Amino acid sequence: MMRIHGEHDVERTPAGSMAGFPTMRPRRLRLNANLRRMVRETVLSPSAFIYPLFVRHGRGLQQPIGSMPGQFQWSVDRLPAEIRHIVALGIPAVILFGIPESKDALGSDNYNPDGVVPRAIRTIKDVAPELVVISDMCFCEYTDHGHCGLINLPGAAYYTPHLPDGYLINDLTLDLLGQASVVHAEAGADIIAPSGMIDGMVGAIRRALDASHLEQVAILSYAAKYASGFYGPFREAAESPPQFGDRSQYQMDPANRREALKEVALDIAEGADLLMVKPALPYLDVLSAVRQSSNLPLAAYQVSGEYAMLHAAAANGWLDLQRCALEALTSIKRAGADMILTYFAKEAAEWLDGGA
Ligand code: PBG
Repeated sequence: MMRIHGEHDVERTPAGSMAGFPTMRPRRLRLNANLRRMVRETVLSPSAFIYPLFVRHGRGLQQPIGSMPGQFQWSVDRLPAEIRHIVALGIPAVILFGIPESKDALGSDNYNPDGVVPRAIRTIKDVAPELVVISDMCFCEYTDHGHCGLINLPGAAYYTPHLPDGYLINDLTLDLLGQASVVHAEAGADIIAPSGMIDGMVGAIRRALDASHLEQVAILSYAAKYASGFYGPFREAAESPPQFGDRSQYQMDPANRREALKEVALDIAEGADLLMVKPALPYLDVLSAVRQSSNLPLAAYQVSGEYAMLHAAAANGWLDLQRCALEALTSIKRAGADMILTYFAKEAAEWLDGGA
């Protein structure tokens, strides 16, 4: 038998030399609930949850999102009560998405200090200074065409003839991402989370933050974000569907796994503090590969479609919502996520508190 020091001896034992049935009976450790609890390898806790919040212009609004039961667009004045509730549930962080009053080709509300997200950040920090506020950093909610940066369109002031028409102009977008990140960080964001899959976004944001003496602000990179159909309900929630084309020229092809490791390596080299894989459940293999390739804290985004599917099936009586949601969250953690961005955060915190 091959003997290597450490706790993994059994795994390294060549097949066949470990005692088998009937000496070994794995069911012995499943006999009662406490025993199962003792040998449980993955434990969910609200401290792993990051709750996404949609903040919108207007006043007095808590607007339901049809395709995401239980989720709302909040106007900034309605946030304090919701924030107190989130804090009381033991959830350590929120991530913000903004729905501005007006959109334009430059997505200028994203870098307006009085824009919807900076105002929301200041309000949240007044109510709950310790709550970690993550700002999703992307232009798709702010541009009139719904793409995640500047698009090369004939007639635009920044039209660049040698680039293809309809191309997302990478490096000009980087400048705007840097500016907007500084605005959100100055409003009080603890973490900037670039989600546009723009080449060089992490480095550009790090340089812009540092140049404005915002060295303490961390970057959570959506390092491996796929061009996924599972974002469908989000685009209703954030009112951000692309008006033409899709996001395949910047988001990753769902067929690729090695490429995720390349994206991750680049983002680490550019200074990412935390990494993310998105979506979660259909990409557990990617999550596991990223977990093994890096020691940075790793987040997974259980996206709007993953949430909507479970709700739709539960509404039909086909699945038990609590059981299946917790099973999905556990699987995401088991595959290697330290944290999970999830619309289930509040409900799951309550379920776990009840001993689920
Ligand atoms: C913005 C962004 C999207 C999501 C998070 N940030 C939409 C997209 O890329 O189309 C999706 C989140 C979800 O579906 O829950 N770039």
